[in-house]
Parts: sequence; structure tokens; C-alpha cells
Amino acid sequence: MKAYCPKCLLGERNFKGFKRMNIEIQNAVPVIRRRAFAAVLLAAYALASMNSQVSAQPREMIRPLLAQAAPMAGPSAWVVDTMLRMAGVRATDFLIDLGAGDGRLVINAAKTYGARGFGVDQDSRWVSLANENARREGVDDRIKFIQQDLFKTDLGSATVVTMYGFKEYDTKLLPRLFALKPGTRIVTHDGSLGGWEADARVKVPASDKSSGPDPASWISVWVVPAKVVGVWRSQMPSANGWVDIDLKFEQTFQKIFGEATVAGQKVPMERAGLSGDFVSFRILIVGQTVLFNGYVQTGRIVGQVMESGGRALRWRALRAPG
Ligand SMILES: C[S@@+](CC[C@H](N)C(=O)[O-])C[C@H]1O[C@@H](n2cnc3c(N)ncnc32)[C@H](O)[C@@H]1O
Repeated sequence: MKAYCPKCLLGERNFKGFKRMNIEIQNAVPVIRRRAFAAVLLAAYALASMNSQVSAQPREMIRPLLAQAAPMAGPSAWVVDTMLRMAGVRATDFLIDLGAGDGRLVINAAKTYGARGFGVDQDSRWVSLANENARREGVDDRIKFIQQDLFKTDLGSATVVTMYGFKEYDTKLLPRLFALKPGTRIVTHDGSLGGWEADARVKVPASDKSSGPDPASWISVWVVPAKVVGVWRSQMPSANGWVDIDLKFEQTFQKIFGEATVAGQKVPMERAGLSGDFVSFRILIVGQTVLFNGYVQTGRIVGQVMESGGRALRWRALRAPG
């Protein structure tokens, strides 16, 4: 088989070997399951600090360290495992791998975490091998591989999308990825998404890459944010009855900026943040900090409001028409 990607780990030379050995898929490291964004940040932090230790050491030190952390697994399995951990993959997830090669990402997601999903590849030989690997690993009831152009793949069922650095492809896919369900995680190996900054990015040693003195892979993860841009109307209780609170958000991918109007007066909004469908911010009302958070649903935000030192009260906002 012809080498199918300049950076690919599985060129002509390795294709038959992988088929014969069915390597690494069996050797995934058992890991603790983590939840969406908290998982992303924690894993990124841990991996980044681990990596800073690794990269500070001579190259020959890397192998024993990897061997200790992931017995019998090569760095490629390490990268796959890092991607799945950064995505916080769990049994309820549906993972789609765009350009699936021998299927290791989807197979590991099914085998280690119980996830379902599918992979697409334009090359029928990889599709056959990946389906064969899935059968051999006993996960073919939960996953499948299809010969398909990744640009024509319906991503609607995904809760996790994985890709191996397609460079210009990534940017081309950006609008479709940004439109996915809030909370969907996108993980790339050596990829980027144009102006959409990753929520977390780590460098991991990839001693199986042949180029450069310090071969490494960059793993990045994005959490698809809800769309909060626009105006929202809400109320909160006060000693003198209900107070009108209007919120106006601007949004650039997962970054939000807002202002609030409380009983007709503009007040500063601080620490506005968005992770998937969870939004939080605080506003100052007559010298008091009032905290708001909630889940963004179609046309409304449902959550709670709390004055400092007070108790949390239910709160909701409705999207203003227009
Ligand atoms: C570098 S490999 C990645 C394999 C796998 N995702 C992994 O991380 O181990 C990239 C794969 O993408 C496939 N590919 C490239 N362009 C594609 C396209 N437009 N549609 C579907 N598959 C594509 C190639 O055939 C190749 O198998």
C-alpha cells in the first residue's frame, strides 16, 4: 500500500506488519474516566506537566518512562490514549474518526471506554483492515468503518470527533464542527482549527516519528460551545419584588463578553465564561456581587443566581426575539 499521509505512522512498509501484529490496540492503558471539560483541563494539566519532565530529559530516558507508564505500549498507543483521555471519552459517547486508518482510535474508544462510533476512510483497504481489527477485538457490535470522504460524512450523531492533522482540511471543516451539539469534543493529533483556539493543547513525545531531534505530537481539544450571542431577558427576586435583568452577549467561539442592564441601568459583567452548554458570569448590583450560571437550551438558559453570602435561587433567561 502507498504511504497515505506524509506524517502518517503507517506507510507501505508498516501496513502488512500492523495487519499481522494487530499491535497496540490490545495494549491500551486502563485509565480513570473523566467528565467533559473538567476532564479536558485536568488531563491537559497533568499531561503538560508530565511532558515538561519528559522533554527536559535526554531522548533515551523517554522510552523507560513510557514503558513504565504504559507497559508494552508504543508511543503511538500513548498518543491514542492521550487523545481519548483528553476528550474524556465514556460509555455514553459516540465517536467519529475522520480518516480512520487501521481504526485504532475508534477501537480503543470502544474497548477501553465502552463508547460507540464509526470511522471513515477514503481508502477501502484501510476500511477492510479496520473492520477486521474491530472484529478481532470483539467490538464490531458497537463500531464500524465505512469507505467515505470525510467531507461528506454526517457528523450529527457525534459527541466526540477525532482527526489526524489535516491542516487545510481542519479549517475547511471548522464551520461544521462549530455547529455540532454543545459539549461535543473535537480532538486533533497535530491539527488546528483556524481562529478557534483550542481549550487545551499538550505536547507528547512521539519517538516513533522519525523526523527531528525531539519528535513530538501535539494533541488539542475543543469543546463545542453553546451559542449565547444576542440578547436575553430575565428577572431576579429582590427585597422590593422582581427586578428586570437584560443580558447582551458577544461571542467568539468559546469566548464570551457581556453587559447587563438591571432595572434600566447598565452594570458591569465580569468573568463571563462558557464551557459547552454551561454559562457563568457575575454582575455588580448596588455594590453586591451576584453570581449567575446555567445551562443554555434552545431559547433559554436555566440555572441559578446567588448573591454573595446568600443562598442559590432558581433563575432563567429567555432569548429576546429578533
Ligand atoms: C494519518 S491517518 C490517521 C489514522 C487514524 N485516525 C489514527 O490517528 O491513527 C489519515 C487517514 O485519513 C485518510 N484520509 C485522508 N483524506 C481523506 C478524506 N478526504 N476522506 C476520508 N479519509 C481520508 C487516509 O486514507 C488515512 O488513512
